[in-house]
Amino acid sequence: HDGLVGIAGLAPHEIWFLLDEAQQWVELNRGAQKRRDMLSGLTIINAFFENSTRTLLSFEIAGKRLGADVVNMAVATSSVKKGETLIDTAMTLNAMRADAIVIRHSSSGAVQLIADKVDCPVLNAGDGQHEHPTQALLDALTIRHAKRAFNGLRVTICGDILHSRVARSNILCLTSLGADVRVCAPPALMPADIERMNVTVFHDFDAALAGADVVMMLRLQMERMEGQFIPSPREYRHLYGLSQERLQLAESNALVMHPGPMNRGIEIESNVADMIGRSQITTQVEMGVAMRMACLEVLTRKGRKMEGWA
Ligand code: CP
Repeated sequence: HDGLVGIAGLAPHEIWFLLDEAQQWVELNRGAQKRRDMLSGLTIINAFFENSTRTLLSFEIAGKRLGADVVNMAVATSSVKKGETLIDTAMTLNAMRADAIVIRHSSSGAVQLIADKVDCPVLNAGDGQHEHPTQALLDALTIRHAKRAFNGLRVTICGDILHSRVARSNILCLTSLGADVRVCAPPALMPADIERMNVTVFHDFDAALAGADVVMMLRLQMERMEGQFIPSPREYRHLYGLSQERLQLAESNALVMHPGPMNRGIEIESNVADMIGRSQITTQVEMGVAMRMACLEVLTRKGRKMEGWA
């Protein structure tokens, strides 16, 4: 069985294939009749062990638009709360003969663990600080809509790179597509292995913004910072917040992106987040539904394997 555990291991042609597949769903979703039946008869289980708005809802909508039966496991009222292990939970879902399982979990590697145990494709909806592959794919789809090409495109990713699975998946995806990726964070929020990731590292946000074609802002993940250095929100905003004035350092038509949820007034000012024509934040959400439709459809397509998939 194939699944989507991470961008790591996906060949560039597989990423391009998913971008092309998603395009048909962007167009379908913009029309009046949004429903197709290619996943009719299939059961998809969403098991989210961490909170989510965008990813959970868009996976649910994506499955339903393709005609699948979509079931959202209510983790907070489940037997996980009685101490059932992750593997026992996974084996229980497997015994119900799901055709795909979508998982979000706070532990890096939890999704791979489940993918190794069950008989159906498993899609990673975000695992700890590891990967959030469908977010990177929907971000690439958003960028392609506006910019067409990735080769040499200067993409600045700024924020809590250390804790961000979105940053990790985006770095892998965008470098694989040929973009010139810059990452910017305070030293304490930059991963130790960043030098191995084929990116240019900045600690000065103004320098990282110079000439950027895309500016992707990330949330400070306070919930993952227990016992670690936490910059004060005021200091962080001063050094790393995206204001209209700062955005002028980037290209005049630079895109503004944020995966959400945003901390308005900390990593991004409201007037930038809502900037018509520049902010892609709601477009990212729209592309998320289309990209998740593509991933579910491709991964549950019988008799067709994609090389390099988990
Ligand atoms: N971008 C993202 O993953 O948002 P949610 O946490 O709301 O799913």
